[in-house]
Amino acid sequence: QTDPLILGIESSCDDTAAAVLRGREILSNVVLGQTDLHAAFGGVVPEIAARAHAEKVDIGVEQALAEAGVPLSAIDAIAVTAGPGLIGGVLAGVMCAKGLAAATGKPLIGVNHLAGHALTPRLTDDVPFPYLLLLVSGGHCQFLLVRGPEAFTRLGGTIDDAPGEAFDKTARLLALPQPGGPQVERCARAGDPGRFRLPRPLLDRPGCDMSFSGLKTALLRTRDAVIAEKGGLTERDRADLCAGFQAAVTDILAEKSRRAIALYDAERPAIRTLAVAGGVAANGPIRAALQTLCAGTETHFVAPPLALCTDNAAMIAYAGGERLRLGHRDGMTLAARPRWPL
Ligand code: KG4
Ligand code: ZN
Repeated sequence: QTDPLILGIESSCDDTAAAVLRGREILSNVVLGQTDLHAAFGGVVPEIAARAHAEKVDIGVEQALAEAGVPLSAIDAIAVTAGPGLIGGVLAGVMCAKGLAAATGKPLIGVNHLAGHALTPRLTDDVPFPYLLLLVSGGHCQFLLVRGPEAFTRLGGTIDDAPGEAFDKTARLLALPQPGGPQVERCARAGDPGRFRLPRPLLDRPGCDMSFSGLKTALLRTRDAVIAEKGGLTERDRADLCAGFQAAVTDILAEKSRRAIALYDAERPAIRTLAVAGGVAANGPIRAALQTLCAGTETHFVAPPLALCTDNAAMIAYAGGERLRLGHRDGMTLAARPRWPL
């Protein structure tokens, strides 16, 4: 008996994505980005994103089916991100999925975008439940104990901004393009992380909560101090600021991960994996620091390939397949939700 063929659709932020999976086998994984559309505005504009999703979601689905080499009629279920995210975009995806479900008579499955990220380590690495997960993206930052496809316990998280947002803000402050994460990482490669010592908020406090907004402000002040002193920023200054910022984020994530692991030390070997997910998990130095931490604490470290860390529809199809297996289906009343905590 073969696994069902699942079509996944994702449109909650600025990537229109569609994918076809059979079990854990990714037959296609199409991502149509919108970076160009938002470039002039220094960030994602919800109205523009919603319009682009509405225009591109059908194209993405057609492309995903074509690349997978399967006709729509062969699909067993349609999984779609139903939130959380920018509501216009989520609506475009949900409307498309409803249309396909109505036309084919196949089950419709609403998926929480965060569950998609949180289950990705099982899609790529077959990690057994339960495992610890650090979800770090542009809109989210939290430690979860993942106990099952729909069972998540939050251990702590950011009390203000998400790290991805801070990376994007840093890029804007230094006149680098968006999305900022990869740009800051690239620029930081030539930099000295020790030249500007930026704060590591909440590091002295117990628990797994984090804060990144103070770091953002400190970066702004440091940048302005350099500009006031020298009349502008050199490439060297930019690289050093990026490196200093990235080092601070890395230290915060690594130290709080160490605490999350320590929380469950008594429950080994039941819980012995730390996985990362979300766009910021694409960051090389952050992955390396977590890898080192895990090696030192006899913890299995799982970091999905970069293309499955950032927003994609393969993770939505996979999470949808898990829901289908548990017998869940949604009807035509499936709602798009701007907020939807795990
Ligand atoms: O998970 P994601 O694709 O979208 C959601 O926020 O749900 O994450 C996007 C975020 C952006 O803020 C982006 O700047 C950040 O992930 N990001 C990175 C890197 N690649 C993407 N941050 C740091 N380093 C990277 N290499
Ligand atoms: Zn995401």
